[in-house]
Amino acid sequence: MTDSHHPPVGIDALALACPKAFIAMDTLAEARGVPSAKYTQGLGQEKMAIASPVEDTVTLATAAARRALETFDVDPQSIGTLIVGTETGVDHSKPVAVYVHELLGLPERCRTFETKHACYGASAGLTTSLDWIASGRARGQKALVIAADIASYGLNTPGEPTQGAGAVAMVIGEHPRLLRIHPNTIGDYTRQVMDFWRPLYSKYALADGHYSIECYLEALAGARAAALDGGDEVFDELLACLYHVPFVKMAHKAHRKELECVHHRPFDLDTADDQARFDASYQRLVAPWLSLNAQVGNIYTGSLYLALMDLIRQSQASWADRRVSLFSYGSGCGATYMLGQIAPSAHQWAGHCDPQADLDQRRRLSVGEYEAMIAAVERAERAEKLDPSDWGVLEGLAYVGTQDHQRQYRWLGRDALTPAV
Ligand code: HMG
Repeated sequence: MTDSHHPPVGIDALALACPKAFIAMDTLAEARGVPSAKYTQGLGQEKMAIASPVEDTVTLATAAARRALETFDVDPQSIGTLIVGTETGVDHSKPVAVYVHELLGLPERCRTFETKHACYGASAGLTTSLDWIASGRARGQKALVIAADIASYGLNTPGEPTQGAGAVAMVIGEHPRLLRIHPNTIGDYTRQVMDFWRPLYSKYALADGHYSIECYLEALAGARAAALDGGDEVFDELLACLYHVPFVKMAHKAHRKELECVHHRPFDLDTADDQARFDASYQRLVAPWLSLNAQVGNIYTGSLYLALMDLIRQSQASWADRRVSLFSYGSGCGATYMLGQIAPSAHQWAGHCDPQADLDQRRRLSVGEYEAMIAAVERAERAEKLDPSDWGVLEGLAYVGTQDHQRQYRWLGRDALTPAV
């Protein structure tokens, strides 16, 4: 997958920012009168990150990006393109990316914008960045691509157990330290479907849930065919198959579809043979990289990259140059299937990609606290002044209210002393 005429391009840095509170799926199941196995086994989720009124797409995106730049020692002045993929921005007009640009002290000589296509927005940003670098227009600069979202479906809806919130930031550049992506292995797919959407008047997403699963699987087959163009033999070389993960069990369904594409026949999981073949493949290629998704929930456009982070945090020296597949799906719908290659240095950066310590420190919410938080988030849009300490947020960046119709942000705690990177 290397091209002797061009340096390799791909993901050079990766970091997660997540809200400081979560609700456990068994707690939610009990309150909703549902057997907890439906959420924990049927959907495969353990926890969902819940954003407080002082955490929004800007604070999550900025925190993730700051962590990516700092922990991978990337000079902010080297960023020439900044793209935030999100479907839960904070303004109908002004992009989240321009807030992030200021809060991180990025150079004025930088192209900065927001991309929206449901869960596909950040992947559009990633492939645009790869093209920007491969075209030569970047002239040695790097791109910062941030996937940031807060997934909200509303209380007591079928989508409620598939919420989550968080941001994944990626630095894209030449000679990447984590993952190479070759432009010739990227395939795209688009089809107009009403599987999931959010009207302008609604804070909550609407979904035709079971239909959305069908649309996802059709898009997987379509984008995969566009990427591989019949070259199915590459499947045997894969170290990992990474999918968009709205809930963990979706990756299970996706992998079954993938095997059906590889073998050109249906996989019947009620027969012992197919079940055994499927299980072996799923346990080797998919299951080991789903722990972060299970703990965070659906972070929409960042969900695929959360699975990638789980892979990279476990990487080993022997994985150098091994291939992985990545499938990104955004409802509506748009999708991309791509092949990546583990960079030889990835294992040296594994510890830098591990957000587990932060996830373990999150505050566990009762159902009463979770419902109060959702109600407070609705009021926060128009609140003039918010106190982050009311929500247990003492460090990092916080949304502190809207004055003169302008959102206000403040760095807290020790971060207040050194606000920019
Ligand atoms: P539902 O109708 O409440 O649940 O909705 P269900 O009846 O389909 O059950 C879910 C699973 O739990 C099933 O497993 C049941 O069998 C199992 P499956 O048969 O599918 O393997 N189950 C149990 N297991 C153990 N013990 C039990 C038990 N009871 C049932 N007692 C649905 C589920 C996902 C549809 C709903 O949560 C929803 O609408 N979610 C939102 C839409 C969504 O996530 N779609 C995914 C594909 S589209 C996508 O990924 C894009 C998206 O991220 C948005 C974007 O692009 O921006 C969503």
